Amino acid sequence: MLYIFLYFNYSVASGDADTNSLIIWTRIDAYSKAEVIYEISEDSLFNKMIKSGKTITDSSRDWTVKVLIDGLEPGKTYFYRFKYKDKYSPIGKTKTLPRETDHFRIALLSCQHFSENYFWAYKYLINDSVDIILFLGDFIYEFNVYRNPRRADPTLPAQDLETYRSKYKIAHSDTFLKLALSRIPIYVIWDDHEVMNDYAGKTIRYYNPKKLYDAYKAFFEYIPIRDNDSFRIYRSFKVGNLIDILLIDGRQYRDEMACRPTFNPKDNCYKVAFSEGRTMLGKEQKIWLINNLKNSKSIWKLIGNNVMFMDLFKDNKPLNVDQWDGYYFEKMEILKNIKDIKNVIFGTGDTHVFYFGEVIYDKKTIAYEIITAGVSSPSSLKVLSDTILKQNPHIKFMNAEYRGYVILDFYKDYLNVYFYGTKENGERILLREEKINAR
Ligand SMILES: [Fe+2]
Repeated sequence: MLYIFLYFNYSVASGDADTNSLIIWTRIDAYSKAEVIYEISEDSLFNKMIKSGKTITDSSRDWTVKVLIDGLEPGKTYFYRFKYKDKYSPIGKTKTLPRETDHFRIALLSCQHFSENYFWAYKYLINDSVDIILFLGDFIYEFNVYRNPRRADPTLPAQDLETYRSKYKIAHSDTFLKLALSRIPIYVIWDDHEVMNDYAGKTIRYYNPKKLYDAYKAFFEYIPIRDNDSFRIYRSFKVGNLIDILLIDGRQYRDEMACRPTFNPKDNCYKVAFSEGRTMLGKEQKIWLINNLKNSKSIWKLIGNNVMFMDLFKDNKPLNVDQWDGYYFEKMEILKNIKDIKNVIFGTGDTHVFYFGEVIYDKKTIAYEIITAGVSSPSSLKVLSDTILKQNPHIKFMNAEYRGYVILDFYKDYLNVYFYGTKENGERILLREEKINAR
């Protein structure tokens, strides 16, 4: 049987669930002001409906629909759907965070350039029984062709509200993404390509505030994140006393890059990169992060982070000053403040390379970093793999060959990490397993 969801080409999604509320999302194909009905139920047949209502959407939000559903119970599965002009959307499934749990499974994803490949990772994680998806940046790319396109992106390069919106529409058109987001709540942070390559928020806010506003507005329209007036995306979620999830924004408040190009920079660049006072997080967010880590009562503290936190040096110099190495003083300040906090894990995207390594401060391992490769975006770092591993002994694993995703299996006593590579034809292989014991 062929199912056609007239008006609902982008399916449905949910996100930012906490113990008693969450966001449900869809977009309808309409051309004038539209009234959309939403329904949320305890069962997939909608016999035990617990909430329904009406909401209005129109061109001012590109006919996206986002509803905050509250009054829910912790750790419970819910079903939801939308209705427009007597036609229903696909049925979505979602879940609130538990108040108490011994186990929680998170998928880490990042970097999905549309034309580079199908978003295979989503196809597999649907069957991995993950509780939530943590998306660590580059949900869209502002440009069309990366290296070796395997499917066409007919939209224009993004530079204003309409063109940023069209990039989200094309990302939301991927079949595997649609299936996964209709079944698993997603928590998203942005990185650079939601606006432009290697941008610093402070710089673009000065030179082109409209572009920044348009890009952020489109993100908030198309991502199931809670709305706010200041486009704040750093936020926290609590998974019982097992995990505190701290999502950070390494783009919006950052100072200009130490130098450009940021990759393999000029010899004198590190002096700027290491200089005092430069910030990636901005003062307010930095204090928020440190305080949240210090006050956490949970066993694990997972930081959802845009760019590589660990040192990545080549010939005694930072290899990429777009990463935390370009804001070295602030990195050291954070580490100094959290050095006695146990079980801190950085979960990171951006590099299109899988890494596992130790975050070192004062010659001691104080945290671990797990970096997921791109869902579809490619890497060219394979030629440097041997050099990187040799010159950075704190990096224990690196794979720049595969795209893919990472599964984190949190238990009270340990964390299992699975690095899954996806081949160009969509086959999946387990590249590496790691176990971190809780301290
Ligand atoms: Fe990327």
